[in-house]
Amino acid sequence: MTNEHIAIVGAGLIGRAWAIVFARAGCTVAIYDAVPEALADCGRRLQENIADLAHHSLITEAPERVLARIRPVASLAAALKGAALVQENVRETLEAKIAVFAEMDSLAAPDTVLASSTSWLMASQFSAGLAGRERVLVGHPVNPPYLVPLVEIAPAPWTSPTAVERARGIYARSGQSPVLLKKEITGFLLNRIQGAVLNEALNLYADGYASVEDLDKVLKDGLGLRWSFMGPFETIDLNAPEGVVDYARRYGPTYRDVARGQLPNDWESSLLARIEAERRSVLPADRLAERSRWRDNRLMAPVAHLRRQPP
Ligand SMILES: NC(=O)c1ccc[n+]([C@@H]2O[C@H](COP(=O)([O-])OP(=O)(O)OC[C@H]3O[C@@H](n4cnc5c(N)ncnc54)[C@H](O)[C@@H]3O)[C@@H](O)[C@H]2O)c1
Repeated sequence: MTNEHIAIVGAGLIGRAWAIVFARAGCTVAIYDAVPEALADCGRRLQENIADLAHHSLITEAPERVLARIRPVASLAAALKGAALVQENVRETLEAKIAVFAEMDSLAAPDTVLASSTSWLMASQFSAGLAGRERVLVGHPVNPPYLVPLVEIAPAPWTSPTAVERARGIYARSGQSPVLLKKEITGFLLNRIQGAVLNEALNLYADGYASVEDLDKVLKDGLGLRWSFMGPFETIDLNAPEGVVDYARRYGPTYRDVARGQLPNDWESSLLARIEAERRSVLPADRLAERSRWRDNRLMAPVAHLRRQPP
């Protein structure tokens, strides 16, 4: 257990999930949202999610104790007071990030780390003009971070090693699995890899090779099972008797030829409408929210299983 004080800015989907991550680890959490209704709604939604975690033995204390560490506050200044780290989760536009980081930089103590959950923007895009820009970085989570532990730390060229190390320590002590980007790139690592997979799935569907359902199965009943506990490099290291170079000798030329034929997909609206229609035939639109909750609950069983495995 750890006992840092953390501020959460933006109480939407990701802000609330981060609040659970930190409170579960023992931190006190102040959560703020510019929209009072979002803040008012926050307690009920947190309670639901924490109860689900308790049901799968993914918290070690009574749900009320975890919830009691999360305090909704009515101003940004009150949220930031005494925080070791601020985790920002407002909507994904550059203008919104620039505005909120300017405000946070003027209010936060000099040694407070300011981290953004942004999915695609680089810290240098919204921190360039700030007096305290050396304590700004990206801490990109995966939804929901209380189940999927990866967090991508992406510093700007001017972010100090001290801020990076403080963020890394806080995330690690909170049970997350931080990775560090050595230099900035749009979309960091995870969304770039997810984008490459999506690009190929869209192309294979567009060119009529398989249905949406079967393409989803390739990941869920195929690659995804292994990928839940090892990455692509470890995978190829074990898929030829003598490791990576042996694998490359056997299959590298074919992968290279396939890659040369792969084109960027245009994400064209008629293609997406066809994919949407296939999805809606198995999941009507009015059941999307219910299915998202099912997904999170479904994810809890393998997460609980993985946590019981030796390192
Ligand atoms: N949804 C995901 O799967 C996911 C995953 C990883 C990262 N992210 C990133 O997390 C961030 C938040 O995404 P989300 O899905 O939680 O969005 P969301 O729309 O659910 O929540 C955004 C919240 O921010 C509040 N807000 C807006 N401006 C504010 C301000 N100035 N101060 C305080 N609160 C403010 C809104 O009222 C809203 O409650 C985005 O940058 C997104 O890219 C999202």
